[in-house]
Amino acid sequence: MINFSLKGHESKKFFDPDQAIWKGESGELLDINVSSNLNLSKLDENPHGLWRYRGVIPIINDNNIVTFQEGNTPLTEVILPNNKLVWIKQDHLFPTGSYKDRGASVLISKAKELGVSKIIQDSSGNAGAAIAAYAAAANIPCEIYLPEETSLSKIVQIEAYGAKIIKVPGSRKDTAKRALMESQNSYYASHSYNPYFFQGTKTFAYELAEQLNWNAPDILVIPAGNGTLLLGCYIGFHELVQQKIIQKMPKLVAVQSEKCSPLFHYFHDQNFNMNLYEPSETIAEGIAIPNPVRLSQMFQAIKKTGGDVVLVSDSEIIEAWKYISRLGYFIEPTSAATIAGLINYSNNLDPNLKIASVFTGSGLKSIDKIQKILGQTNIKL
Ligand SMILES: Cc1ncc(COP(=O)(O)O)c(C=O)c1O
Repeated sequence: MINFSLKGHESKKFFDPDQAIWKGESGELLDINVSSNLNLSKLDENPHGLWRYRGVIPIINDNNIVTFQEGNTPLTEVILPNNKLVWIKQDHLFPTGSYKDRGASVLISKAKELGVSKIIQDSSGNAGAAIAAYAAAANIPCEIYLPEETSLSKIVQIEAYGAKIIKVPGSRKDTAKRALMESQNSYYASHSYNPYFFQGTKTFAYELAEQLNWNAPDILVIPAGNGTLLLGCYIGFHELVQQKIIQKMPKLVAVQSEKCSPLFHYFHDQNFNMNLYEPSETIAEGIAIPNPVRLSQMFQAIKKTGGDVVLVSDSEIIEAWKYISRLGYFIEPTSAATIAGLINYSNNLDPNLKIASVFTGSGLKSIDKIQKILGQTNIKL
C-alpha cells in the first residue's frame, strides 16, 4: 500500500486524491508527497525499469499501471571535448524517443485509475508524443495542442498513435493558453501542471542513484523548459535522502537557451518580471518555454541544492550536437543544449567530482532540423 497526499502548493490544503483534478479550486498548483519507503531488499522482485520503484509511485492498484516496460536506461561514460569524463543517462532510448515517457506512464496510469474518459495536453512535441502513446495503450481518447512550428516527425508520431492534433498559430505560450482554456471540460494531462507527471520523472533520480550503487552524483546537469525533469530529480533525490538511502543531494545545474531563459533571469535577477519577458526563437525547441508555471519551484530546487542555471547559444548547441553525433549517439538539438551547457559548466570543475547528465530526446524526432544542421545552410528554425 502506497501512502501519499495531494496538497495545494500555496494553501497547503489537502485534496482528495480520488478526484480527477490537476489543480486546486483557486487554480493553485498541486504537489504530491509520498511517505512510503522503498524496500531495497525486495527491489529485485520488481521488473527492471521505472516500475521497479513501484513502492514510491502513487498508483493504488497494479491493474491500472500503463507501461511498455520502459526505463532502466543505460548510464554511459562520455568524454567531453574538454576531456572531462561524465556519466550520461540515455533517456532518448525510451519507447517514444524521450524521457517524457517516465511522466506519461505514471500520469496515464493515474488517469486510468481515476476513470478519466478523455484527456487533453499541450506540448512542444515530445510530451505530446509520450502522452498520446500511453493514452493509446490505455484506450483513452486524447487531444494534443501543438505550436504550428513543431517538428514534423513529432506531429507525425502523435498522429500515428491516434491522438487528435490541434495546431495553434503563434508561440508556445499561445498553445499553452489555448490548452488551459480547453482544459475546463477535460482532464488536463499537462506535464507542467499535473503533479503525477513529476512522480514519473522522479524515477530518473532513483535509477541514477541505483546505477551509482545508491549514491548521488556531485553534480547533475539537466535541461530546463517547464522543469519536469529538474523538479522530478529534486523530488526523487530528496525522497532518497529522507529515506536515508543516499547521503546527500546532487547540485542541480539547469541549462537554458540564451534565446529563451526565464529561469536564468529569475535566478540571477531579483527584479525579473516573467510577464514582460520576450524570448526569441531557438533551435532548442523543447526548452523554449517563456513562462514555466512552476518557475519558483524550479528556482527553489536549484537554490536548495547549491546549483546554478547556465546559458548556451544556438551555435554552441550545434557544435555539441556534432560532437555527440560523432561519438555514435543520435540525439535531437534540444538534447544537445544540455550537453553544450555541460561542456561549458564542467570546464573549470575539479576532475574528482562525479558529474552526471542526460540525453533527453532522440535525433529521429527532429530530422527536419538536423538536415539543416548537416547542410549548414540557412538554418531556419
Ligand atoms: C528533448 C527535450 N529535452 C528537454 C526538454 C525540457 O524539459 P522540461 O520541460 O522538463 O524542462 C524537453 C521538453 O519538451 C524535450 O523535449
